[in-house]
Amino acid sequence: MQLKDKIAIVTGARRGMGRTHALVLAKEGAKVVVSDISLEDCEKVVDEIKSSGGQAIAVKCDVTKKQEIEKMVKEALDKFEKIDILVNNAGIAEFKAFLEMTEEEWDRTLDINLKGYFLCAQACAKEMAKQKSGVIINIASVAMGQVGIGFPNIAHYCASKGGIVGMTEALAVELAPYNIRVNAIAPGMIETPMIDTIKEDPKSMEAMLARVPMHRVGKPEEVSELVLFLASDKSSYMTGSVVVIDGGWLAT
Ligand SMILES: NC(=O)c1ccc[n+]([C@@H]2O[C@H](COP(=O)([O-])OP(=O)(O)OC[C@H]3O[C@@H](n4cnc5c(N)ncnc54)[C@H](O)[C@@H]3O)[C@@H](O)[C@H]2O)c1
Repeated sequence: MQLKDKIAIVTGARRGMGRTHALVLAKEGAKVVVSDISLEDCEKVVDEIKSSGGQAIAVKCDVTKKQEIEKMVKEALDKFEKIDILVNNAGIAEFKAFLEMTEEEWDRTLDINLKGYFLCAQACAKEMAKQKSGVIINIASVAMGQVGIGFPNIAHYCASKGGIVGMTEALAVELAPYNIRVNAIAPGMIETPMIDTIKEDPKSMEAMLARVPMHRVGKPEEVSELVLFLASDKSSYMTGSVVVIDGGWLAT
């Protein structure tokens, strides 16, 4: 029980990696706020947690809406009295050629993937600063820039993930005096609904896998174990780090 008595918020937790982050944190004793755009789906994840003996609540929260984020933080505090861990996980990846990308499409991705992380981090950090402890984990991506590979047709996504890395480093410095650690995780290709469009085309899937030395996609649970490590005291000297988990992709 590495997270006994800890309170965690996971955004984008109705499915995919957010769901497994919530399950793994709860298994280690954390009381989890499962949040996403669909309350009904969040409630199913909460049921899973409760049926394994854990504690959780479901909260509808669209991370582009500041009022909903404030409501999520309030519900977490009303129910559990504090916030120890935030996993900024909610995100979208919409493939679009750069020359055809509209301003609306650009804004939508940046609003969810980057501004949403800012709003959630700020709302939670204000509470963490009062208690002088906390952990923020930002889910970035190998498509974060400066890794020796460019990713076509997702310029907005890459910009958002690069922004997350810059923000993570800035927050690590700024929030260290409050004993708040801030780290990022950069996953490679992970088996979630987000890669469904890539999987629909076996050729592009094979081309992607050919670049991955382990020659497979990652399991969401494998990333959740890293989330657990960064959320726990086992990573007590880590802040401002970006941890890559990609089956060796960036090593090639
Ligand atoms: N799957 C991959 O290969 C991969 C690789 C690198 C990084 N990531 C990142 O991991 C995170 C989780 O993605 P996933 O792979 O589990 O995909 P996913 O599509 O299954 O999960 C994303 C979740 O975010 C939620 N979401 C979308 N817009 C939202 C909003 N406005 N407010 C709140 N929630 C919202 C969705 O409802 C969904 O539950 C994302 O940040 C993604 O960019 C995924």
